[in-house]
Amino acid sequence: MSVSRVLCVVGAGTMGGQIAHQAALHGCDVRLVSRKAERLETAMRDGAGLLRRRVEKGKLAEADLDAALARITPFTDPGPALTGARVVIETVVEDRDAKREVLERICQHVEDDVMIGTNSSTLPSSLLAAYVTRPERFLNMHFFNPPLMMPLVEVVKGPHTAEATVNAALDFAESIGKTPVLVRRETYGFIVNRILFIAMQEAFRLVEEGFVSIEDCDIAVRNGLGWPMGVFELADLVGLDVVESILAEGLAQTGEARWAPPAILHEHVARGELGRKTGQGFIGER
Ligand code: 3HC
Repeated sequence: MSVSRVLCVVGAGTMGGQIAHQAALHGCDVRLVSRKAERLETAMRDGAGLLRRRVEKGKLAEADLDAALARITPFTDPGPALTGARVVIETVVEDRDAKREVLERICQHVEDDVMIGTNSSTLPSSLLAAYVTRPERFLNMHFFNPPLMMPLVEVVKGPHTAEATVNAALDFAESIGKTPVLVRRETYGFIVNRILFIAMQEAFRLVEEGFVSIEDCDIAVRNGLGWPMGVFELADLVGLDVVESILAEGLAQTGEARWAPPAILHEHVARGELGRKTGQGFIGER
């Protein structure tokens, strides 16, 4: 499977918007799709703002910023955005019906040999493969938040995924400046979330059971493990609703009690305290 440099990103939230900017920085011609014009405006403004900071810090030339931004075209209509794309990355909400609608739409507009990656962290591509024509060209390409900063992409081979697609995904991730790793068989959480979310569960338990405060737990993780953020700070970055749904989905898919979402998390979510995006999560406004 040949991979060229025309990328269509479907879904313009934090992930899609920043993946689009990352690819544009590395020379791709990017089409960014959302049905909501305001979402596209926000994604374009936020991406440009983050890259402008690099210019101000002397890490990016002004001309390279301008060139990157000029390579991204926003679309509210997926049809023209998908026509002629050679790689598609789907980054819409983690909902099977929403993914189904989008994947079916993608397949109506792209050629049969176009690689399709889903950025889903909770739905392995085998659960979505029925919505894709030629599922051998389909797999998970899991980026990390914030995608303009985090180098990793987990490329996850589904039972239906062709070896050529795996290689194309690894090559594509590398071509946009990322560090890809291959997960040879699907497993819930892939690599990072399987490690991270079990660590989070332990941190939640330590606090729930009164052994330690949230603040001290984060100090311990930052200073004892050298993580750039504490576990609770990171949960706030990811979004507590997202953390809860990743755990709940893990429990549903594996039946393993270790994934069961804890009460401390649910209490925040029920109060609408979802982390950075609402200004309040485990840690308040800073
Ligand atoms: N979005 C995009 N860029 C951001 C950002 C954000 N929310 N927050 C900070 N940055 C950028 C800044 O613009 C700056 O970029 P520049 O140097 O190019 O100008 C750079 O990060 C450093 O910013 P700061 O000095 O303000 O902050 P830090 O040094 O603390 O770095 C961080 C911020 C990169 C987010 C760092 O704290 C970090 O690496 N945190 C860990 C993040 C992490 O673990 N992510 C994985 C989450 S799990 C996941 O995504 C899986 C999913 O399935 C749940």
